[in-house]
Amino acid sequence: MTDNTHSNSLSPSCDDYTVVKEGSVHIRFPKGEVFYNPVQQFNRDLSISVIRTFSDIYLSERKKRNLDGLTILEALSATGLRSIRYAKELPKIVRIYANDLDPSAVETIKRNVKLNSEDASHIINIIQPIQGDANASMHRLKYEGQQLDVIDLDPYGSAAPFIDSAVQSIADGGLLCVTCTDLAVLCATHPETCFAKYGGLPVRGDVCHEASHSNSSAILNAGYAVSGSHCEPLAIKTTAPVSLLWKIMQVMVQRRLFLK
Ligand SMILES: C[S@@+](CC[C@H](N)C(=O)[O-])C[C@H]1O[C@@H](n2cnc3c(N)ncnc32)[C@H](O)[C@@H]1O
Repeated sequence: MTDNTHSNSLSPSCDDYTVVKEGSVHIRFPKGEVFYNPVQQFNRDLSISVIRTFSDIYLSERKKRNLDGLTILEALSATGLRSIRYAKELPKIVRIYANDLDPSAVETIKRNVKLNSEDASHIINIIQPIQGDANASMHRLKYEGQQLDVIDLDPYGSAAPFIDSAVQSIADGGLLCVTCTDLAVLCATHPETCFAKYGGLPVRGDVCHEASHSNSSAILNAGYAVSGSHCEPLAIKTTAPVSLLWKIMQVMVQRRLFLK
């Protein structure tokens, strides 16, 4: 896990900006204008661990195709924090597209990439900020022939509106990182909304979080059916205890090795 301290050490300091340090990254963003959620640090930490393990397996399997490293699309990037952490904390990354619909977010991403390049100049060449709708950008990149090895979806609420484009744009065998923050919908507060968004009914009671995972996995599988592919059943859920997640990740690695 990484620290997440608000720091005033960056100069020049400005009352209109919030300054945050998370992992190896400093970000600055206009107060109240661009989205930042400190609670999601664990989500970002976990994505970094998963992509690192995925990268080892995926790149060794694709050696024959002369793939030098991963290309990642963060389709809803806000401050660029996640993309910059990927660029600084993960090895073998050749390109990261940091996309957001909001022009102010894209300006913030550009500023944050520059700020963080002071101690990691290579990230300027890796991260490409893009302004556009996530669905449109995914289809455009695919149309342009970009191989998207990892697509990260972290929208407000449900990721359902972005699944179809993501599964159609991702490379064969790629990794789709999906965050859904509408747990109230998935945990039976609004069953009809859950059915409309996820095509399944939620379960009330102690197991509602586990059941919510089945619903989000179901929509991923439905999306994958569009591309004639399938979703990895060992997808993991970040609200589980860290010790459980760690065990799951170890089992995933062991199984892959065992299959070899
Ligand atoms: C929850 S925030 C992303 C947080 C970010 N991934 C992180 O880890 O810090 C969601 C972002 O999606 C952007 N957004 C909303 N609708 C969008 C769309 N249709 N296409 C692209 N970006 C969108 C918002 O401007 C906002 O910055």
